[in-house]
Amino acid sequence: STLPCDSRRHAHVASSTIATKSRPLVVAGNVAPNGLSGQSKKKTLVLLGTGWGSTTVLKSLDTQNYNVVVVSPRNYFLFTPLLPSCTVGTTESRSIMEPIRHIVGRRGKDVRFYEAQVTDIDVNGKELVLEQNADASNTHSPGTRTRINYDYLVVGVGGTYNTFGTPGVEKYACFLKEMGDVSKIRRRLKDAIEKASFANISEAERNRLLHMVVVGGGPTGVEFAGELHDLISEDLSRWVPELASKIRITLIEALPNVLPSFDHKLVDYTQRMFKQTGIELLTGTAVKEIGAKTLTVRNSSTGTEAELPYGTVVWAAGICARQFAHTLRSKVPSVQTSARGLIIDEFLRVQGTKDIWALGDCTVSKNAPLAQVASQQGKWLSKAFNRMAKDGGGGIATDDGFSQMGAATKPFKYSSNGSLAYIGGEKAIAELPFLNKTITMSGPLTSVFWKAYCLWELSSVRSSLSVATDWGKRALFGRTISVD
Ligand code: NAI
Repeated sequence: STLPCDSRRHAHVASSTIATKSRPLVVAGNVAPNGLSGQSKKKTLVLLGTGWGSTTVLKSLDTQNYNVVVVSPRNYFLFTPLLPSCTVGTTESRSIMEPIRHIVGRRGKDVRFYEAQVTDIDVNGKELVLEQNADASNTHSPGTRTRINYDYLVVGVGGTYNTFGTPGVEKYACFLKEMGDVSKIRRRLKDAIEKASFANISEAERNRLLHMVVVGGGPTGVEFAGELHDLISEDLSRWVPELASKIRITLIEALPNVLPSFDHKLVDYTQRMFKQTGIELLTGTAVKEIGAKTLTVRNSSTGTEAELPYGTVVWAAGICARQFAHTLRSKVPSVQTSARGLIIDEFLRVQGTKDIWALGDCTVSKNAPLAQVASQQGKWLSKAFNRMAKDGGGGIATDDGFSQMGAATKPFKYSSNGSLAYIGGEKAIAELPFLNKTITMSGPLTSVFWKAYCLWELSSVRSSLSVATDWGKRALFGRTISVD
C-alpha cells in the first residue's frame, strides 16, 4: 500500500513490509526516511549506489539543503584500483573498503543510508521499491521490501561483469568486480594448489590444476595477471617451490593486442614484460565456452578451435550496466533505446525522465566507464545541486533541468587525469596529460608513482594507512592467501 500522492512530498516513506520485529528496514508511517518528522520542507534527494559516482556526490554535497537518502546493497565504498592486488594478498580486503556509515556519519543528521537493492521505480509517482539485503540462510532475519519517494534521484548503480552469453562462464569462472569475488578467487587458487600437492594425482591432472587462465586483456585482466605472477614468483616459490615452478598463467585476449585503450608503446612494453616473466599471451583468441575442466578457444583469424585444460579461470572480459538501469530504461522504452545502459545528456539527466540523473558505469555517454569519469561526474552534480539550492529551490526540477541556474551551470565535461596500470614485477605503465600532450611512462619508477597515486586517492586516512601497512607487512613477511 502507498500513501496518497499529495502526502508524499512530506511523508516520503510510503509503505513498508516489515518481516521481523527485531530488524525493521524503514519505520512505517508518516516519517521521512531521514528519520526527521514529516514537516521538513527540504527536498528529498535519493542517491542510488555507493561507488565512485554516488559516493563523490555524497561527499561533496551540501547536505544542509536536502534530505539525503543513500540506498545501496553494498555498505561500503570500494577502492577498485586495488581489487586485483587483494586477490593475492598484497593488500587486505578491509583496507580498501570504506564503511559507508563512516561517510554518512560525517555528512550530518539529515543523511540516511539503507542497505538495500532498488528493484523497481515509478517514474511518474516518484517512488522506488527497495529490497533489503537478506542472507538467505538466516531464517531469523529474512529480507524486507519497502517503498520510498524521492524528489530528485541520482542513479549511480554501476556496472557488472559481462559474460556476452558465453556458455559456462557463470558456472565455472570467477569474476573480479566486487569484494565477494576476491575471496572466491583466493579459495580457488588455494584449492588448486593444495590439490596439486597430493602425490596420488597424475602429472596431467597436476598441470591442469596449476594452469591459471585470465580471460580479457583489458586493464583488469592485465593487472590481475601481473599480481598473480608476483604471488607465484615472490611467495609460492618459497612456500611450495616444487609446485610454483609448474604454475602457468595464460592471458587470453580476443583482439590482436592487450590493453587496446593504451598507447602502443605501453602495449608493447607490457607484452614484452609478460613474455619475460613467463606469462603466456594468447592474443587474437576468443574464449567460446568454459567447461568444468577445460575451456574452448577460437583463433580469431584462422577460426580454428582448441581445448585448454585449466584449474582456475578468471573472467575479466568487460562490463555492462546493472539490472536497475534496464528496469529504469523499460519505463521509457521509446527514448532509452541503448541496451548498454542509461542514455544521459550533457547535464547527466536521464533522457525521457524528470528529476532523474545518472552517472558512472550504468550510463551510456562518450566517456569510457572509468572511476575518474564517475568521480568527476559526482563532483559536477553535487556542485550543481549545491548551487541550485542556493539559487532558491525548485529550479533543478524543471523540464529544462539546470537552465534556471543560467550560464553558471555549464554542461559536464570530462577532463582526463591520465591512466595508470600495475603490470606486476614492481612495474607499472602510465599515460599522463602534460601541456596539451599525453606522455607515457613505464617501469619501476612508474610503479612507485602508481603506489603514491593509490595512497593519495584512497578515500580516507584510515584506508591509506591500512594499505601502506599492508605493503609494509608484505615486504617483511610476504603475502598470504589464507581463506576458510
Ligand atoms: P575491458 O572492456 O577494458 O577489457 C576486456 C577485454 O576482454 C577486451 O580487450 C576484450 O577484447 C576482451 N574480451 C572480451 N570477450 C572476450 C572473450 N570471449 N575472449 C577473450 N577476450 C575477450 O574490461 P576491463 O579490463 O574490466 O575494464 C573495464 C573498464 O574499466 C574499462 O573502461 C577500463 O579502461 C577501466 N579500467 C581501467 C583501469 C585502469 O586504468 N587502471 C583498471 C580497471 C578498469
